[in-house]
Amino acid sequence: MKTEFKKKAIRSYVIRGGRMTDGQQKAFDQWWPEYGLSLFDGMLDLRETFGREAPLVIEVGFGMGDSLLAMAKAEPDKDFIGIEVHPPGVGRLINEAGKADIRNLKVYLADALDVLEDCIPLACADRFQLYFPDPWHKKKHNKRRIVQPQFVELVRERLKPGGIFHLATDWEHYADHMMEAMALAPGFKNQGGEYCFVERPDFRPVTKFEQRGSRLGHGIWDLVFERV
Ligand SMILES: C[S@@+](CC[C@H](N)C(=O)[O-])C[C@H]1O[C@@H](n2cnc3c(N)ncnc32)[C@H](O)[C@@H]1O
Repeated sequence: MKTEFKKKAIRSYVIRGGRMTDGQQKAFDQWWPEYGLSLFDGMLDLRETFGREAPLVIEVGFGMGDSLLAMAKAEPDKDFIGIEVHPPGVGRLINEAGKADIRNLKVYLADALDVLEDCIPLACADRFQLYFPDPWHKKKHNKRRIVQPQFVELVRERLKPGGIFHLATDWEHYADHMMEAMALAPGFKNQGGEYCFVERPDFRPVTKFEQRGSRLGHGIWDLVFERV
């Protein structure tokens, strides 16, 4: 399986090289037909995709997928779409989901900006999740951060009114950058109060990158904004 993307000048990720292991390839062969969605199939029909109408949660950059899988298990009344560019993470998630017979989850192995633009209908999502995105901490790399006005607007358009955008990071400068971008973005209200962060909501499990950050002594910042 190859990561799907269209031509873009600045990317928020580097595709880490290396061949897939036999186990990862097997996971794709077995589970991709059940869980995989393709960027090139265009706009999603959610009812057809999940075979029902249910609240929708979208997560960008789920990494190895453990926390997304835990949420899909914990909230069977909701449908989940994960978007990730890292093939081993997607392979691991679909393998674990397949073994646990999870039915409320689908994934894209693709660039989230392309997927949002081409595949996700307007005003369809109840919750949008972005947990511990790559901080691109060197100043010259800041422009690669996924949280930029164009991305925030893509998210806003795909949330239902009243839907929430939940972000978290363990990098203080990125937390400030997120807060600034969200405060300036039209059509959002900070659920924590103006310029305030929130406690980690119960529905968000501790993620792999968060554990790593905590081990390194980093703080954790959660932001929850509502589409108004
Ligand atoms: C630092 S990791 C965090 C992973 C996970 N959320 C966690 O907390 O453990 C960020 C992830 O975002 C993914 N990513 C970055 N830009 C992306 C994009 N434009 N579309 C989809 N995934 C992206 C990366 O491949 C990486 O796995």
